[in-house]
Formats: sequence, structure tokens, C-alpha cells
Amino acid sequence: MPAVVTGANRGIGAAIFKELQTRGIDTIGTSRTPTNGFITADVTKKHSVDLLAKHLDGQPVPLLVCNAGVLLDRNEKLADGYAPEIWSACFEVNVTGVFLTVQALLPQLQQAAVDQGSAKIAIVSSVMGSSARPSGGTYIYRASKAAATNLGRNLATDLHDLGIAVGIYHPGWVRTDMGGPSADISESESAAGLVERFEALSLGTTGCFLNWDGAEIDF
Ligand SMILES: NC(=O)c1ccc[n+]([C@@H]2O[C@H](COP(=O)([O-])OP(=O)(O)OC[C@H]3O[C@@H](n4cnc5c(N)ncnc54)[C@H](OP(=O)(O)O)[C@@H]3O)[C@@H](O)[C@H]2O)c1
Repeated sequence: MPAVVTGANRGIGAAIFKELQTRGIDTIGTSRTPTNGFITADVTKKHSVDLLAKHLDGQPVPLLVCNAGVLLDRNEKLADGYAPEIWSACFEVNVTGVFLTVQALLPQLQQAAVDQGSAKIAIVSSVMGSSARPSGGTYIYRASKAAATNLGRNLATDLHDLGIAVGIYHPGWVRTDMGGPSADISESESAAGLVERFEALSLGTTGCFLNWDGAEIDF
């Protein structure tokens, strides 16, 4: 029964993939472009995530980590930036991509829930999507992560009775291509904390929004 991690070719996804494997958990990683040992999947394309599900060939999936994400509006100016195309491109990955991946793998998650009593979906969101912390700027990324968190909360409601728990996580400010070299923590530190959170996730805590270190985050 493999865990599945999207966007596992670099950054936090690669570190989560490695951490799961180190803990002896059979894990399949996906990457947008062909990468040795990974299944190719662009989470914005329905046919691509459907092919991922097909590739898994009916195997139950006990853990799906929706990690793939983009931050495209770091340098935009309120007066004349934030073009509609950037909104679409960001939401396609950070929101639609999460939904399409969950939808495509739902039969395999349900099968894992039947076989072992529960299955889990982990959504890598961000504290930048928390409406309780409106620091301003980066409107597109913030709105997309708020939507991803909201999606996770509603999936938690709908999937509870199917035995599928949904957790939503902030990975910390992490030294990746997205986080930059000045960020607080390393990829491996973040991944070790996140995987502990995934292990603790249950139907009793479904819908939680947690920091990588386990602290609760306000929605
Ligand atoms: N780094 C931080 O400080 C931080 C903080 C809060 C939240 N996050 C979230 O954590 C997650 C991972 O971030 P990161 O820092 O590791 O970012 P990253 O280094 O930029 O890596 C992003 C990953 O997502 C993949 N991806 C992008 N678009 C995709 C698509 N359409 N289909 C499939 N995969 C796609 C990338 O694949 P390619 O290599 O093909 O581009 C790459 O594997 C994201 O959801 C991000 O929003 C990060």
C-alpha cells in the first residue's frame, strides 16, 4: 500500500518523500516532468492525475500528500500587477490541483480505509492563507492557500464517514526554491515534523490546521 506525494522531485515534497521512505513507508512520488523513479503527473490536468490513478493499478492508498504548489506573485505591485493570468495559474495548481488529485485517488483512499480502518489526506497549505493573520501583499498566493485550507476543511466533513481523515498543514518557512535561502528551517526539519503530524492524524482530529511542529493555526 503506497503513500503518494505530489511534487516530490524537489523542495519539501522531496524531503517528505525521503522521510516517509526512511520510516519504512512504501512511497510513490510524482513529478510534473519525467524524473527517474517518479510517476509523471501535472496536478492541473485531469487526464494526468487520472493516469496517475491508473498507474497505481487499484492499489489502496493509505496516505495522499498534496504538496505540489506555486507562489507566482511575490513581486507584484497592487497598483498595476496581479494580472488575471497569474491568478488562474496559481489557483490551478494550489486549489484545483489539490481537488483533482483527491478526486482521482478517492477510490484508492476508500479502499485503504476499508482494508485498514482509515486513510489520510494531508494538504500542504500555508499560514499565509490564514485570515486570522492578514499580513497583506502576495494576494494571489494567500487567497489560493486560504481556498486550499477551506477545501481541506470541507473534504474533512464529507470524507469522515468514509473513514478518510484530512489534515491541513503549514510546513514552516522552509529553505527551498520557494522559501529562499533566508528561511527559518531546512527541508528535512520541516518534513520530519510534518510526517509526525501525518502519523498522528485521525478521524478524531480530521479538519485540523497545524504548523509543522504541531502548533495549532487559526483559520
Ligand atoms: N517553502 C516554504 O517556506 C513554504 C511555506 C508555506 C507553504 N509552502 C508550500 O509547501 C509546498 C512545497 O513548497 P516548496 O517550498 O517545496 O516549493 P518548491 O521548492 O517551489 O517546489 C514545488 C514543487 O511543486 C511542484 N509543482 C508545481 N506545479 C506543479 C504542477 N502543476 N503539477 C505537479 N507538481 C507541480 C514542483 O514541480 P516542478 O519541479 O516541475 O516545478 C515542485 O516539485 C507548496 O504547496 C508550498 O505552497 C512552502
